[in-house]
Amino acid sequence: MNTSDSLPRVRAAVDRLRVESGEPVCAYVYDLDALQRHVRWMRAALPEGCELYYAAKANAEAPILDTLAPWVDGFEAASGGELRWLRQAQPGKPLLFGGPGKLDSELELALDQPGCTLHVESLGELHRLAAIAERLGCKASIFLRMNIGVPGMGDTRLMMGGKPTPFGLDEADLPAALEALRGYPQLHLEGFHFHLMSHQRDAGAQLMLVRAYLDIVHRLQEAYGIKVQIVNAGGGFGVDYAEPARSFDWLDFCEGLKRLLSERQEALRLRFEPGRYVSVGCGWYVMEVLDIKRSHGEYFAVARGGTHHFRTPPAQGHDHPFVVLRGTQQPVVQDTRVTLVGQLCTPKDVLARQQPIAALAPGDCLAFSLAGAYAWNISHQNFLMHPPPRMVFLDSGPPGTAG
Ligand SMILES: Cc1ncc(COP(=O)(O)O)c(C=O)c1O
Repeated sequence: MNTSDSLPRVRAAVDRLRVESGEPVCAYVYDLDALQRHVRWMRAALPEGCELYYAAKANAEAPILDTLAPWVDGFEAASGGELRWLRQAQPGKPLLFGGPGKLDSELELALDQPGCTLHVESLGELHRLAAIAERLGCKASIFLRMNIGVPGMGDTRLMMGGKPTPFGLDEADLPAALEALRGYPQLHLEGFHFHLMSHQRDAGAQLMLVRAYLDIVHRLQEAYGIKVQIVNAGGGFGVDYAEPARSFDWLDFCEGLKRLLSERQEALRLRFEPGRYVSVGCGWYVMEVLDIKRSHGEYFAVARGGTHHFRTPPAQGHDHPFVVLRGTQQPVVQDTRVTLVGQLCTPKDVLARQQPIAALAPGDCLAFSLAGAYAWNISHQNFLMHPPPRMVFLDSGPPGTAG
């Protein structure tokens, strides 16, 4: 997860923003060429028999989707809103529709979308979907999302399965689901879906999970006399924000997958649907320092914007990594620790606490890296009615051409 290659381009974009606007800088800057290089690298490492979808919940800005589209098999949506947006922004691209609490109107929308596969999260949803498909006279491909614990699976800060959660079916509900499906010719069971956790940074542990998913599906096929084509092993590949080099080791994981698939002569295809690991590295949130002050012995830098644009630091409970883009003013503080805050009238508006700073002055910019996923779109954007950040997409050519 190396973001330093983007820094000169981000710096140049910030310089352009300074010239264009009379106001202090506040912007998201996305390096689309870096995004393209990253997704191509991910794709190239993935062995034959594996599919790569992008979970749009991480960041569904149109240029991000356009950049990814040539290199992914499709997109995953987790709401009717995302489904509608993806249909408009990426017409014709295969879609997956998952998530709990789907409305009837959302199920109808998915059924109306050619090439959309539904991830069924409960028995109740299965019956509703079957009734709607019958009423509309259409057929649907479905996956059953399973919440099955895997011995030794470990845990992360964000667990969706292997314990009580609102996601997926317990194995105890599977016989009833399969029995129901025998009476629902309008629904085709294409596969099983697993997403037990996000923030998984251990490639070996994730490989063990994938092996367990394949074993489980093998066992279910034998036990129930069914045949499916695909196992969706979810997303959740983790990013270490403090030490990006210790993020999920994709190459190691893909090597392991290659061995796993060759050992098993697996007839099943494997599908992945990561979000964060795909887009996090391409985004930067840039804030211009407005004021530097001392309070009860500690320095604070107050910068334009805040957690209403960039909720990632409080959401993760961490000090977000950043670099200082020095402006032209003489430093006000040097070789000291500074807390970096936004403009909100709450002491919670902190992006990084007591950070070592070599030199800082008003007019300098703080460029927060790893801001391309679960950042702007998870933020409480209307709080205090501050204006939105500028959105800058750096791109050296049409999607598919940058190297
Ligand atoms: C079902 C499902 N798939 C994929 C993802 C994407 O996860 P990540 O962004 O951690 O890769 C999520 C995240 O919540 C999810 O719930």
